[in-house]
Amino acid sequence: MARVLLGVTGSVAAIRAPTLVAALTEAGHEVRVIATAAALRFFDPASLPAGALVTDADEWRFEGSEDGRWRREDPVLHIELRAWAELLLLAPLDANTLAKLALGLSDNLLTCAFRAWEHPRPVVLAPAMNTLMWESPQTARHLRALLEDHGVEGAELPRARTPGAYLTRFGGPDCPHVHVVGPVEKRLACGDFGVGGMASVEELVAAVGQALRAAQDLPASTLSSKD
Ligand SMILES: Cc1cc2nc3c(=O)[nH]c(=O)nc-3n(C[C@H](O)[C@H](O)[C@H](O)COP(=O)(O)O)c2cc1C
Repeated sequence: MARVLLGVTGSVAAIRAPTLVAALTEAGHEVRVIATAAALRFFDPASLPAGALVTDADEWRFEGSEDGRWRREDPVLHIELRAWAELLLLAPLDANTLAKLALGLSDNLLTCAFRAWEHPRPVVLAPAMNTLMWESPQTARHLRALLEDHGVEGAELPRARTPGAYLTRFGGPDCPHVHVVGPVEKRLACGDFGVGGMASVEELVAAVGQALRAAQDLPASTLSSKD
């Protein structure tokens, strides 16, 4: 059981955010949710437990500040959330935010929390996008960049142009604390048929449990994050 920070991005699969939060809670986890502005177009914030959701507006809201400016005694929300969380689950992870994470961009609450994340605390990524977006060599490049950034030093990675080539490398010896739950093949909301649908809620809850167990088993010496 863990404190899970769930990042929700602007994929149609964000409609399942309330169900995912309920399932994680049912599994015994404490859940807080960061939703991007695009993600908020897919579900009703009122369908989440009170107080669970934080957004960009919260990051920039400083209670009692008369001019709206940050004061020295005010919190920095993305750092507080990072300190609170034991595991980061990005589900759904859309193509745009994946690209931002790969580049290190940090222009909203979610990407700041990822950029400030304390590796090797586990991260679980659940991409969801149109099939052609998923099959794009850009997606492979971005997954590879994340693996290289957070994997074991010196790992030999394939130069493949398809993202599937990297799925089995995540969560394995090359990258023991960043896990990817690959998208599934289905008729997508856009009408296309193919790979790109977010994995099931059950699979995501199971992946969170596996990632937490794997993190407990990891000897600190196998990780490169503290160098
Ligand atoms: C109706 C609709 C559905 C979308 N579904 C997806 C999707 O499943 N996956 C994806 O990568 N982008 C999808 N997009 C595009 C993203 O919402 C868009 O790139 C947005 O800028 C993402 O912002 P964010 O990464 O900050 O959440 C969709 C856009 C719309 C309008």
